[in-house]
Amino acid sequence: MRTQHTFPNPPAVAEAFAAYLVEAIASVEVFHLALSGGSTPKLLFDALAQQYAQSIDWSKVHLYWGDERCVPPTDGESNYGMTDDRLLQFIDIPTENVHRMRGEDPPMIEAQRYGQLLIDHLPLKGGLPIFDMIILGMGADGHTASIFPHQIDLLHHPRPCAVASHPETGQQRITLTGRIINAARSIHFLVPGANKKAVLKEIFNGQGKDRTYPAAWIENAEWWLDE
Ligand code: 6PG
Repeated sequence: MRTQHTFPNPPAVAEAFAAYLVEAIASVEVFHLALSGGSTPKLLFDALAQQYAQSIDWSKVHLYWGDERCVPPTDGESNYGMTDDRLLQFIDIPTENVHRMRGEDPPMIEAQRYGQLLIDHLPLKGGLPIFDMIILGMGADGHTASIFPHQIDLLHHPRPCAVASHPETGQQRITLTGRIINAARSIHFLVPGANKKAVLKEIFNGQGKDRTYPAAWIENAEWWLDE
């Protein structure tokens, strides 16, 4: 089941989702949230930093990442680095609540470490760590987190985290795997942008190459889109 929320433009998508997130966090005592990377979250983080930095009790929030590039946090490619620039430096969140994937460490070791961290920190259901919410993006090739079409088997990987690689650049990534993503209590795709419209249509209409897109295999998600 896919729920669609459509807004006039990308900033409106970010604004609406930010307001939704404020309510979701206000309604619970602890909120385990996995963030996506890339450029889309910048709009969301700007909205949160500029309008909601004081409206959220950040001590309730534990931040994780859905994926991370295997680079140091100071690298321009780092999802953590982008999040620090656009959000973390503007909010009062305890450092112990920010669970960074260590992109600078050997990938296999970090995938193992982070998977264990999730098992240690998150509620478990059937042995799977359960996020309260996972925010995802989608690439124009239908990838999500760092599960790309050429490694679609990561959807069924037995462990919470795995090492992935970008299909063009070969850049290594740490990524949450499909079972963890699908086990989350709520899953939200933020996918503004005309360059993804064709893939979105295939996924929502169940046509074309939809089954080759990892994002198509994430069930029960809410999709926040622009017109
Ligand atoms: C990453 C992301 C990735 C991203 C999509 C969309 O590390 O790149 O986690 O899955 O969400 O590639 O990226 P844009 O938001 O930049 O279009």
